[in-house]
Amino acid sequence: MRVTVSVPGKVSLFGEHAVVYGEPALVAAIGKRLTVSVEGRSDRLIKISAMDLQVPGVVLTFSEESPELIVETDYGKIVGAVGYVRKAIEIASECLGKRGGVNVTIRSEMPVGAGLGTSAAVAVGTVAAYALLMEEELPLGEIARLAHQTELAVQGLASPMDTSVATYGGVLYIRPSAQQTIEKLPITCPLPMVVGYSEREFRTSDLVKKVRALREAYPDIVSPTLQSIGRISERAKCALAFGDLDSLGMLMNINHGLLDSLGVSSKSLNDMVYSARFAGAIGSKMTGGGGGGCMIALCPDREVEVSTAIRIVGGVPFRATVSEQGLKVESIDR
Ligand code: PMV
Repeated sequence: MRVTVSVPGKVSLFGEHAVVYGEPALVAAIGKRLTVSVEGRSDRLIKISAMDLQVPGVVLTFSEESPELIVETDYGKIVGAVGYVRKAIEIASECLGKRGGVNVTIRSEMPVGAGLGTSAAVAVGTVAAYALLMEEELPLGEIARLAHQTELAVQGLASPMDTSVATYGGVLYIRPSAQQTIEKLPITCPLPMVVGYSEREFRTSDLVKKVRALREAYPDIVSPTLQSIGRISERAKCALAFGDLDSLGMLMNINHGLLDSLGVSSKSLNDMVYSARFAGAIGSKMTGGGGGGCMIALCPDREVEVSTAIRIVGGVPFRATVSEQGLKVESIDR
């Protein structure tokens, strides 16, 4: 039996880093997907083929003719992603009380380890596909929970933001306080974005530690900054409900400034963020953990100009729109 599922990547629209301290965040699934196929084996081995996956140093091929981004890598760079697959299978097996050998194949339409939620997508896809292979259908909430456990086990620290949006798709409002809130927001208007990618210099966990150290050293300054980011997410939720793109853009710019003040942006990210604004984006900000990686620009009718501007400062641009589609079962071949 062979099961194939696909899972969307994501961009953090607002609230990254502050969400680690209980502040709200808005996160959106994008139209670039990661596919996980699993096939039963007669033995109990787990074989993982992940030609498109890596942690640092992706090889990116960008074609001028088509907006597709082709990601290539080699064996030595897949080790990080393999950890998520192994842990996801272990956690799903424990929950299901069933274990079998599997061949797992992973493909990605987006750069991996760049802040687009690919490790969460690997975790969600592996849990869902493995459960179906074991002839069990898990509810979406359970898949999201097991995938979040996988991220926690591999990374030590992770909010449920990435695993939730990979599972449910759309735009999610997340408030991880004692009474955790995860709300799928209605999309009132298209959000045409360009994502700019640059080589990532640090891991998310390093940046999370950096913010924690800064907060301990300057609590009277950093705590209000994180709370302001939370307020930005609340205002952005309202702006989104009214389809107010101008406010969303302004809030992105303020959010980026605050993230930069926390030391999680980088020269390459700032170059892309500012060049996008000069090329006509309504707003732009880094997205995800930072330290290199990705930025987003909200730029209706200016996608071509913004993409060119990002490329001029050394980034790799691709267009993205919000995708309502979360986890999807592509095929089950018996
Ligand atoms: O780098 P990413 O895409 O995994 O995003 C990290 C977002 C943080 O808020 C910095 C951490 C988290 O777990 O929410």
